Amino acid sequence: MVPVADGGAAAAVELEMTSEQVGRWKTVVGTVAGMVPPGAVRVLVHGADGEGLPAVFADRLAAHLRADGHPCRRLADASATDAGASEADGDATLDEGAADLAVLADGPRWRAAPPGGEWDVVVWLRTRSAGRDDRDDERGPDVVVDVDDPAWPVIRHVASRLAGDGSWHVSESQAFFAVRAATWDTKFGDDLPAYAAAVREIGLRAGAVVLDAGCGTGRALPALRDAVGPAGTVIGLDVTSQMLVTTRQRGRATHAALVLADARRLPIAAGAVDAVFAAGLVHHLPDMSAGLAELARVSRPGGTLAIFHPSGRTALAARHGRALRPDEPLAASRLEPLLAATGWRLDSYDDPAHRFLALATRQERWHGAQAQVTGR
Ligand SMILES: C[S@@+](CC[C@H](N)C(=O)[O-])C[C@H]1O[C@@H](n2cnc3c(N)ncnc32)[C@H](O)[C@@H]1O
Repeated sequence: MVPVADGGAAAAVELEMTSEQVGRWKTVVGTVAGMVPPGAVRVLVHGADGEGLPAVFADRLAAHLRADGHPCRRLADASATDAGASEADGDATLDEGAADLAVLADGPRWRAAPPGGEWDVVVWLRTRSAGRDDRDDERGPDVVVDVDDPAWPVIRHVASRLAGDGSWHVSESQAFFAVRAATWDTKFGDDLPAYAAAVREIGLRAGAVVLDAGCGTGRALPALRDAVGPAGTVIGLDVTSQMLVTTRQRGRATHAALVLADARRLPIAAGAVDAVFAAGLVHHLPDMSAGLAELARVSRPGGTLAIFHPSGRTALAARHGRALRPDEPLAASRLEPLLAATGWRLDSYDDPAHRFLALATRQERWHGAQAQVTGR
């Protein structure tokens, strides 16, 4: 165990962490630091207030920015009411040296009183147990970091203006799902009949080529193999190696060829698959539009896309302790145009409590040119 010491406002938080957990914190803080625009910028870290984590996170972010040569002022929560008169690491006012200064604050008082009227970058540390007010804030922040396990922070959302090429998604998805792989089936194993029923509805023919994109522990693979028969091809693809290891341990590798890859850049030739099964994947992609377009690229014209989840959207949102929002990307009103712009035609949409299943057909004449809209 590596004791982690923090100075200043963070001293109250004592995190005893393994070297792997220390590395995770460094990755997350470094990744967020890389997203902070250069020059004068105001950054607020908030959420999970009861844990004192915003102060720890803001301290580390400030240290990282300074080490990168970005001048930085760290505002303590207590200084908010004085409008910056007693910052944690200096006595200059907020106006001085503002040309390239990053100003970092945490805590509820700064949140309500942004210097200069607004925050340029808002980082929200999310916990599942946060009060409803905090949960509702999920819409606003530029960066959402899951700190349900404070020793294992994971970035779950980045506003498109800060996301760059989206490379953050791979390490963060792996970090999120790797620690869940071993217990995934224990938690969700009862859902297997729902997968089999969804696969039957796709109407796969014997001998077909089907891709399970984001296959996880391979829960759909036996049903997909049954559907295409021994002459067919089943590819189980996931970006998290621990998920594929669990797939093998469950004996499901006998049903499919397993591939470790990013579904946003598939190592599959254009038009090579007859159907794509995507369970719990597309809404995890930072740019859903680009992800759907990539699935369309590898599908033959007339091929099928099944977007599935073994619970309906309302039920899933409730399980995560939040209400369903009308503008979520899997809402029919958003999904249909998104699919149409990315090479698909929505054929059916079913969203009762026990499952979500949207079936789409790959457009005959689509060459990728329309894939410009964003899914966020
Ligand atoms: C919610 S889980 C669903 C797993 C499985 N489909 C199921 O229904 O049990 C999402 C899966 O997508 C994978 N994933 C996330 N982003 C991915 C990406 N860009 N490329 C491939 N897999 C990804 C994760 O590693 C995880 O296994």
